[in-house]
Amino acid sequence: MISFIGGTGPEGKGLALRFAIAGERVFIGSRDAERGLAAATEVQELLPAGLPKDYIRGGANEEAANTGYAQLGDAVFIAVPYAAHKDTLKALTESLKNKVIVDVVVPLAFEKGRASATIVEAGSAAEEAAQILPNSKIVSAFHNISAADLMVPDRSLDCDVIVCSDDDSAKTRIMGLAEMILGVRAVNGGGLANSRYVEDLTALLLNINRTYKAHSSIRITGI
Ligand SMILES: NC(=O)c1ccc[n+]([C@@H]2O[C@H](COP(=O)([O-])OP(=O)(O)OC[C@H]3O[C@@H](n4cnc5c(N)ncnc54)[C@H](OP(=O)(O)O)[C@@H]3O)[C@@H](O)[C@H]2O)c1
Repeated sequence: MISFIGGTGPEGKGLALRFAIAGERVFIGSRDAERGLAAATEVQELLPAGLPKDYIRGGANEEAANTGYAQLGDAVFIAVPYAAHKDTLKALTESLKNKVIVDVVVPLAFEKGRASATIVEAGSAAEEAAQILPNSKIVSAFHNISAADLMVPDRSLDCDVIVCSDDDSAKTRIMGLAEMILGVRAVNGGGLANSRYVEDLTALLLNINRTYKAHSSIRITGI
């Protein structure tokens, strides 16, 4: 089961859709269980014909946090805005214990439409998660992917997803999950200390999107 805390935004819904297409069961969490259910219905309607709609469920964030059973293959995604990152994790610390936590959060600020990376005391959102959740397996990934493109089921993403973690087995699992998305290659980004570079790159991509009126993403060459 792949579950999402803050899954009702474009990033959570887009990833949930792609994982459900790949045959994973997903759970979309929200602060409001009704909104989680509505988001699940919305994602079900985007599923290509013939795929099981009951693989996509929704409800409260607390249920999403308890849905991953710390079993091989389960993961809980954190997909809230950075402003809500610390408080959301602190509130769910017990439920997230021993689980694989995938942090997609990018610490960003906007001024006159321009994005910039926010300085995080811990070094990155992912390292902040590791400090708050010392008994969870933190993986950082999916920062440079376009949620708008994820929401179009047959569109190839044509990009790399850089995956960082200090837990090798969790990293391998999430790299495999990333490659279930059409057009995605997963790249081993090393330990969590590298997450800051991947997170910060997103600000550049957003500013490039503004200039080119596009959905940019990244490809690493030479590996
Ligand atoms: N959008 C992208 O293309 C993209 C790409 C890569 C990474 N990311 C990162 O992924 C994360 C999610 O992106 P998004 O665009 O889906 O974000 P979003 O729409 O702004 O937020 C996602 C969900 O977080 C919940 N939320 C909002 N404010 C909150 C608060 N104060 N406390 C707790 N929960 C709150 C909301 O769900 P409820 O109201 O239902 O609880 C909201 O639907 C962000 O950190 C972003 O930087 C986004």
